[in-house]
Amino acid sequence: MATTPAPTRATTKDHSAVRTLLRLWPYVRPVRTRLFTAAFVAVLASCTGLVIPLVLKWMVDGPVADRDPAGVWLGALYLLLLGLAEALLFGLRRWLVARPLSHVEAEMRADLYRHLQRLPVAFHDRWASGQLLSRGTTDLMLLRMFLAFPLTFLLVNGVTILVGVAIMLMQDWSLGLVILVPAIPVMVTCVIFEKRYALVARRAQDQVGDLTTVVEEGVLGIRIIKGFGRHRSQARAFRELSGTLRGTELRKAKLLATIWAVIVTLPELAIGAALVLGAVQVADGELSAGTLVAFLSTALALRWPVDSIGFLLAMSQEAATSTERYFEVMDEEPESRAGTAATRGSTAATRADTIASRADTTTTSAGTTPTHAGTTPTSVSITATRSEDSGLRFHHVRFRYPDAPEDSPPLLDRIDLHIRPGESMALVGATGSGKTTLTALVPRLHEVTSGRITLDGQDITAMSREELRSRVAVAFEEPTLFSAAVGENVLMGAGGGAGTVELERALAVAQADFVYRLPQGTDTQVGEQGHSLSGGQRQRLALARAVVGKPRFLVLDDPLSALDVHTEAAVEAALRDVLADTTALIVAHRPSTVLLADRVALLSGGRITAVGTHHELLRSNAEYAHLMAGTDEEEGG
Ligand SMILES: Nc1ncnc2c1ncn2[C@@H]1O[C@H](COP(=O)(O)OP(=O)(O)OP(=O)(O)O)[C@@H](O)[C@H]1O
Ligand SMILES: [Mg+2]
Repeated sequence: MATTPAPTRATTKDHSAVRTLLRLWPYVRPVRTRLFTAAFVAVLASCTGLVIPLVLKWMVDGPVADRDPAGVWLGALYLLLLGLAEALLFGLRRWLVARPLSHVEAEMRADLYRHLQRLPVAFHDRWASGQLLSRGTTDLMLLRMFLAFPLTFLLVNGVTILVGVAIMLMQDWSLGLVILVPAIPVMVTCVIFEKRYALVARRAQDQVGDLTTVVEEGVLGIRIIKGFGRHRSQARAFRELSGTLRGTELRKAKLLATIWAVIVTLPELAIGAALVLGAVQVADGELSAGTLVAFLSTALALRWPVDSIGFLLAMSQEAATSTERYFEVMDEEPESRAGTAATRGSTAATRADTIASRADTTTTSAGTTPTHAGTTPTSVSITATRSEDSGLRFHHVRFRYPDAPEDSPPLLDRIDLHIRPGESMALVGATGSGKTTLTALVPRLHEVTSGRITLDGQDITAMSREELRSRVAVAFEEPTLFSAAVGENVLMGAGGGAGTVELERALAVAQADFVYRLPQGTDTQVGEQGHSLSGGQRQRLALARAVVGKPRFLVLDDPLSALDVHTEAAVEAALRDVLADTTALIVAHRPSTVLLADRVALLSGGRITAVGTHHELLRSNAEYAHLMAGTDEEEGG
């Protein structure tokens, strides 16, 4: 999976580099004083350099012509002081910008990270991680370098060139005009170069992102790669991509070489012509030798400012590309905080549904208490909400993945399911039928396409994410752990107040007493992604993380699949206690897991086709019987 999905490749480039770079202003604003001061200091330093030729002129026409050694020494002293001043000023500039610019880079990186955390799962499904990584590293580094160097020096060199040309014209306007002849072809070359370089720079930076993805996959998937002996093909994929990147970089170098050649050669020719012309004028006595020396040394002093324009422009263009890539991510809509989803402009259909369903909720809850009161005797101790509203409820839920084709049927359609308070419901279905997807809708990892989900009568889109996620705990098929202590990994599932007692209880429920046998007990560090633990151990920690906060609602996606029969039975026994006062939705493949639940729902063809107890469904539903047969034929309970 080396290529990047469409959204990460901006092919439309309708913004000029300057417009794009202006977007950096909010980040640069806090350090603007220092940056402007630094630029001013640099201009000053550069202009100090331009005074040197004038001193030379004074020396040649004065003390040198008069053979006055004292005057020459004085001139030398002036030159030394000017050189020193120039060096000190440039040093001061560097000192002024270094710290604030690292601050800008750090701020932008922090913002990017914060934003990535808040972007919906659907975004992360779409974007290759390498693309995000490279934006957070390479691109931001390029931006810092741009702010430190090209930004200032384009200005400084521009001013220096203008002042230098003015000085030269003042010395001798005819020689000045000769020097100015190449200006127009140089400018034309710069404009053409900018355009071409923009395209290649963007391509190169995208390719760095692709390469990062391959490296990342190679590192994370090292077990599979080794296990299947795929290192050759993986290396080939890497080589191909890095070859492509090399080609793009060479293309960049070629463009740079071209502009460099033009920018260096033309002025150099002009200086040569001016030298010949000037020498003739001096011979004819029309020009003083000092003026010619001053003129030529000014021209030579302008060589670096002119020569550097090529790569300054290149760096600026790369920075513009980086800005573009940075803001492509930053412009993505984050998850709405609470029920604010409706005010955001995108995906009209979903939003409209959300509004509609929210309106529903308000009317229902407004009309709740007077009209219906305690209809069903089965509900326990839920006041103020109707019993048929309490618990976890799916109302006509329909879901289609955002990147699925428009005309494809929805993955989940008209799902109506009611899990009563304190009840645990198993969700059974063929592989790929959408069970994981259905469970992901409850903590709003994905947004329903239409319909709504309520917790005790309250629409989940009307709660803040924090509230929703404090009520609902989840354990996924893939038990992801973080590089932190075992205890920290588990307590991640609880609010701030949870401590050792809660931790021990959760570990007991998940039968994760292996933790105490680890070298440092619950303080043992888990390797990256938990790879230092066995699959079943990871799964039990994930389960402990789900139950540690004593959530009112528990969503478990096949939580026991990696456990041996005995451990599974022990976890089940302990889970039964937890499930007694928790409303739970448990995806299950095996009868033993199904038997944990009070009732079972069968998901088939995107719909809930049957709900009942395990035994009822075994008897009445052929598909269910078929799904449950073939696994171990456990019956009972
Ligand atoms: N992020 C995604 N984007 C698009 N389609 C997806 C995405 N995730 C899953 N799907 C598709 O949705 C369908 C249902 O996937 P889901 O993971 O919900 O199945 P499941 O019932 O949990 O299967 P299993 O029993 O194997 O875990 C699959 O066909 C899958 O290809
Ligand atoms: Mg699944």
